[in-house]
Amino acid sequence: MNTPTGAVGYLTADQTRAALLKATAAPSLYNSQPWRFHCTPDAIALYADRSHAVPVADPEHRELVLACGAALLNLRLAIRVLGVQPDVRVLPGHCSADLLAIVRPVRRRPPTPTDAELAAAIPRRRTNRKPFLPNSVPPSLHGHLRQAAEAERAWLAIPEREQLPKVQALTQQAHEAQISDAKFTAELQHWTGRDSSSPDGVPARSSGPRPEPQDEWVLRDYSSGQAKARVVGKDFEPEPLICVLGSFQDGVLAQLHAGMAMQRVLLAATAAGLSSSFLSQVVEIPCARKELRSLLGGGLWPQAVLRIGYGSPVPATPRRPLHEVVSGMPVPRA
Ligand SMILES: Cc1cc2nc3c(=O)[nH]c(=O)nc-3n(C[C@H](O)[C@H](O)[C@H](O)COP(=O)(O)O)c2cc1C
Repeated sequence: MNTPTGAVGYLTADQTRAALLKATAAPSLYNSQPWRFHCTPDAIALYADRSHAVPVADPEHRELVLACGAALLNLRLAIRVLGVQPDVRVLPGHCSADLLAIVRPVRRRPPTPTDAELAAAIPRRRTNRKPFLPNSVPPSLHGHLRQAAEAERAWLAIPEREQLPKVQALTQQAHEAQISDAKFTAELQHWTGRDSSSPDGVPARSSGPRPEPQDEWVLRDYSSGQAKARVVGKDFEPEPLICVLGSFQDGVLAQLHAGMAMQRVLLAATAAGLSSSFLSQVVEIPCARKELRSLLGGGLWPQAVLRIGYGSPVPATPRRPLHEVVSGMPVPRA
């Protein structure tokens, strides 16, 4: 096929840029954005960018790969809504261990209604650390979110009510272990409480209220100590939907699929009018993760723990400009 400069397969240059912008809207630990894309006339390659790793919280780069998986799902959906079918090869592995996927926009094919719905949710999805409304998520939506995880070859475990105190206790213990580690808190402070002009890291305005001892689910303070005390009477929701995204294996391939599954769950939640945030402490401290795994029956590797409910709108976090994360095609610096 005859491709003009900047075009990739069946995508024009503008469509390629639009798809890459959607890819980079993916969530990542501390908004570290650990991805790189390289475009050729027939493919977009996704690489892990280990210079944006978070070595204390994520020493094995597991969450880094999850974030890249989330970016890959966004890229697939963004291409699908342009009426193009992407052929995706994960871990093609021939030249670099950082090469996670090659995406070839190979033929025209109309998007499905689900593709369109999920792609439309990409710019609306945000991590919401504020208290949610007291309404609980109806059981009919639990199955919908589970299906989203299964569509990407992962599993969404929703702990039973009687298991929740144990998940809470494990999260609290993991949180305490982390905040008593000076290297962890230095890294947390480095990435959070940023002003809104920073193209990565978490802006102070995206943090939740100041954590309080009575909080049932301990959320990290992403404000670098600037968080405001809670408005009197405005507490966290009594029954958030807590779910654990798990994979059947725990290598890079499984983590990449888990990242796509995590993002599909987050987008399905967004499309259903739900908000979400993460409780990653329990999957970052190895002994807590192991206990969570056995609490859930031992068959799954917990990859991400999500808190889902009905939240009020929160602002978007910034992203690095495309020209910093994309090579191989002209990307305007505007
Ligand atoms: C693997 C992973 C783990 C995360 N863990 C946490 C967490 O423990 N607490 C939290 O508040 N946010 C967590 N986040 C959310 C990121 O901070 C968030 O995605 C990033 O700041 C970008 O903001 P956005 O999601 O609103 O686009 C995590 C995200 C990913 C992908």
